[in-house]
Amino acid sequence: MGDQKTLYVVVCAAGPASEVGTLVGLAQDGGWTVQVMATPAAVSFIDVEALQEQTGRPVRSQHRAPGDPRSPKANAIIIAPATFNTINKLATGIADNYVLDVVNEAIGLGVPTVILPFVNSAYTNRSPFKASVEKLRGERVPVLIGPDTFAPHSPGGGSNAVRTFPWNLSLEQTEKLL
Ligand SMILES: Cc1cc2nc3c(=O)[nH]c(=O)nc-3n(C[C@H](O)[C@H](O)[C@H](O)COP(=O)(O)O)c2cc1C
Repeated sequence: MGDQKTLYVVVCAAGPASEVGTLVGLAQDGGWTVQVMATPAAVSFIDVEALQEQTGRPVRSQHRAPGDPRSPKANAIIIAPATFNTINKLATGIADNYVLDVVNEAIGLGVPTVILPFVNSAYTNRSPFKASVEKLRGERVPVLIGPDTFAPHSPGGGSNAVRTFPWNLSLEQTEKLL
């Protein structure tokens, strides 16, 4: 048990969020202890109770109250699904919620971090988004978007794309970074 590695699964408020238990299960099968973290906006997209049961850990979306136990340190982080909003904020160094605080610091510490976006092509066409992806890649943070990974869906085509969201790709990429 002592050498179990901890994976933070950071979930944002996008279509596939309700299925994040799939990634949790895959990671657990791969030997990870999983700590789920959610942006404030994502909390209403997920089944907090089911995820807490699945992981045996509280889902974190806010700073800890003094005296509450700390989360175990992350050996790796996956942000999936990652939104337009969170990707742009993270690339710019904005830390206006708990998970952004955690991930901004973790990237600076060199914790392997992988981003699997779920963003439509109208958003990915924006120059700020393109710049964000380049900035993050420049910090050795893989952003799994594009023809070789997961292509952005067409505006309005989100519900079909949810079904093909490649959770396993984020885990495979994480293993490569270790
Ligand atoms: C039903 C619903 C679905 C959404 N789907 C997406 C999405 O697929 N991708 C995305 O980037 N934003 C999506 N959004 C918008 C984000 O939820 C919104 O930008 C929010 O501020 C993101 O917050 P977060 O990045 O802190 O999770 C959706 C919003 C709603 C209400």
